[in-house]
Amino acid sequence: MSDLDRKYGFAVIGCGVISDTHIQAIQQLENAHLVAVCDVDAEAARAKAEQYDCEYHTDIANVLACDDVDVVNIVVPSGLHAKLGIQAAEAGKHVICTKPIDITLQSIDSLIAACRDNGVKLAATHQLRSYPIFNRIKSAVDGGRFGKLLYGSCFVPWWRERAYYGPGRWQGTKAMDGGGALMNQSIHFIDLLIWIMGRVSTVFGHAEHLYHDIETEDCGTAVLKFANGAHGIIQGTTCTYRGLPARLEIHGTKGNAYTVGDETMQLWQVEGDEDEVDADLQGHVGGASDPKSGMMGYAVAAHVEQIGDLLASIEEGREPRLNGPEARRAVEVILAIYESSETGNVVRLG
Ligand SMILES: NC(=O)c1ccc[n+]([C@@H]2O[C@H](COP(=O)([O-])OP(=O)(O)OC[C@H]3O[C@@H](n4cnc5c(N)ncnc54)[C@H](O)[C@@H]3O)[C@@H](O)[C@H]2O)c1
Repeated sequence: MSDLDRKYGFAVIGCGVISDTHIQAIQQLENAHLVAVCDVDAEAARAKAEQYDCEYHTDIANVLACDDVDVVNIVVPSGLHAKLGIQAAEAGKHVICTKPIDITLQSIDSLIAACRDNGVKLAATHQLRSYPIFNRIKSAVDGGRFGKLLYGSCFVPWWRERAYYGPGRWQGTKAMDGGGALMNQSIHFIDLLIWIMGRVSTVFGHAEHLYHDIETEDCGTAVLKFANGAHGIIQGTTCTYRGLPARLEIHGTKGNAYTVGDETMQLWQVEGDEDEVDADLQGHVGGASDPKSGMMGYAVAAHVEQIGDLLASIEEGREPRLNGPEARRAVEVILAIYESSETGNVVRLG
């Protein structure tokens, strides 16, 4: 069998809300197939295995013992990503992790090192990087079409029901969520912001809970300075009335763009094509008020692209485009906002 005919066996670890998006993306890839699912909740694992006609396990150790599993796809609570990823790497399996790649820089660095030392690939998924409107901004900015960058900001005025943080849930806990509205929800747009604008050099922020009864923040705000000199603002919450679509705003001396939700380019003014209007791009509100909304449809296609890139990186002997160090960047900025909020100081990033 040539490498082109090779089908990579996947195991999906965690059978909760986001697992269907990953499984359906794996099923759409010609060179991938789902071998097993795993969840500590035996009933969740059994039901998912029945739905997708695969094996199931309740302990990752049994998954890692399967020779036909090449890639471990991790979709468990965020504070367990690196721990399970390191186990997978030590068993010689490639690792792909949902966002955030983990919740501390130490654990992320250990995961990166474990994958490197065991000669396996490490990739993350931040699906919005594969959405057309954000790619359009990224390519125009990279091509210099926005001129000198001045401002890059994201506003994520979302809503989560009180029950989302209810008893027994990992969401909103320091140990497993590592944060709240910023680390769990706004990270999608924070990742986009730094992907488009480049490295952040300083952060000043506030992160508190103003409404939900949780250990972590439900409202966060930060002022950023990017290494290229541009300024930025991050605002993220899970308690605004009803939840509104997130906005990303990029401004330069030759271009302005606003996006609303994850499919609508509200404004596109770039020198040379001022008249261009994207009236046909009808957006939806992403996860503004419902964590499950926006998780199928385009999100599956975006995961197909990102999981597919991991397989291509194995075939081509290169790093995945969204590798460990790349996924670490958003977490580093969010942790800097927490540090600034606690100390009252501006935090400088290396
Ligand atoms: N990309 C996205 O848009 C997106 C959306 C939702 C969630 N997520 C991320 O996906 C991860 C999971 O979120 P969710 O909403 O699916 O959570 P969830 O609570 O619905 O599901 C998590 C599952 O993991 C299982 N689990 C816990 N510990 C385990 C272990 N040691 N081994 C195997 N299974 C274990 C739980 O029993 C549960 O079924 C989180 O990191 C979250 O940030 C990403």
